[in-house]
Formats: sequence, structure tokens, C-alpha cells
Amino acid sequence: MEIIRADKNTQKQIFESLSAIDKLCVGAEGWSAESFKSEAAKDNGIVLYTVENGNITGLICGFFAADEAEITSVAVSPEHRRKGFAAALMEEYFRTLPDVVESIFLEVRESNSAAIGLYQKFGFQKISLRKNFYSFPDENAVVMQKLLNKEG
Ligand SMILES: CC(C)(COP(=O)(O)OP(=O)(O)OC[C@H]1O[C@@H](n2cnc3c(N)ncnc32)[C@H](O)[C@@H]1OP(=O)(O)O)[C@@H](O)C(=O)NCCC(=O)NCCS
Repeated sequence: MEIIRADKNTQKQIFESLSAIDKLCVGAEGWSAESFKSEAAKDNGIVLYTVENGNITGLICGFFAADEAEITSVAVSPEHRRKGFAAALMEEYFRTLPDVVESIFLEVRESNSAAIGLYQKFGFQKISLRKNFYSFPDENAVVMQKLLNKEG
């Protein structure tokens, strides 16, 4: 497995593949190719994707500002799940963040036990609930935070 960071020079076709995976995984809320491109082109945007045997299998997307970061999307193609792709993407995301970042936030659907399991495995804790944050279907969001240990 290879992990690649997309940037402003990444081919359009890659962003189209990322959008297709995101929409397959989360439905209408999935990002467009233009949204992925715009995030990847920002200095504080992070768009990483996994490649296995020439195929894009998963992605993670987020951004940072001052001492905080956010993960906005994690998605792995259904046929490639439970093989460690999301775990590898999370680890690379943490490595990519600047040293000044002290905490990472994200929101996840309350019923999404796979994603919540993934985040808890990496030390994210539930800190609050946003009532009816999601639509189609309406659902609460769990807000999770991971504190990065900057000591030694
Ligand atoms: C959540 C998702 C990204 C996990 O991807 P994945 O590549 O299958 O995950 P990994 O194989 O790297 O698993 C890493 C850990 O995540 C957790 N996990 C993954 N799938 C899980 C499941 N179905 N149920 C419970 N925990 C799960 C486990 O802790 C797992 O560690 P383990 O294998 O040692 O038990 C994937 O299921 C997905 O794309 N879901 C749809 C999109 C989505 O919901 N994204 C999150 C939106 S906020």
C-alpha cells in the first residue's frame, strides 16, 4: 500500500476518484472533485489517499489552523475495508500535521459504529453531541477530540 498526499498539481482524474469513493461511502454528503481539489490546494489542507495495485482504495481529508486540526472525511471503498487502510491513513494524517497542533476534532453520525470504533482506537474521545446535525436521515453528530501529547 502506498499513501500519497494530493496537492494543487494532482491530476483531475485523482480528485474524481476521491469524490466517487466519498460519495459511495457517505452518500449525498460526499464531496465533489472540486471540493477535494480546493482543500488539497490550500496550505493548511490535507488530502491523503491510499493506492493498492494501481487502485485508489481510501482517503482522509482535513485541515489545521493554529493549534487545532479537524478531520472532515475518512472513507475506504467497501471491498477494501477491514484491511487497515483507514488506520494507515489516520497515522499518516497525524504525521503530516505541524508540531504546533495540540488537538484534533471531528464529527461523526451517532450510529456510525465503524467510524467511532476507528476514532476511539486512535484515542479520540466523545466530547459533545450536536442535535440533528445531519440530514437524510436526520441524526445527531457526536463531536470527538484527540489531544496530541507533545511531551517527550
Ligand atoms: C470507517 C471506515 C473508514 C473504516 O475503514 P477500514 O479501512 O475498514 O478500517 P481499518 O481496517 O483500518 O480498521 C481500523 C480500526 O477501525 C475500527 N473499525 C473499522 N471497521 C469497523 C467496524 N465495522 N466495526 C467496528 N470497528 C471498526 C476498528 O477499531 C479497527 O481496528 P481493528 O481492525 O484492529 O479492529 C470505513 O468503514 C468506511 O469507509 N466507512 C464509510 C465511510 C464513513 O463512515 N466514514 C466516516 C465518516 S465520519
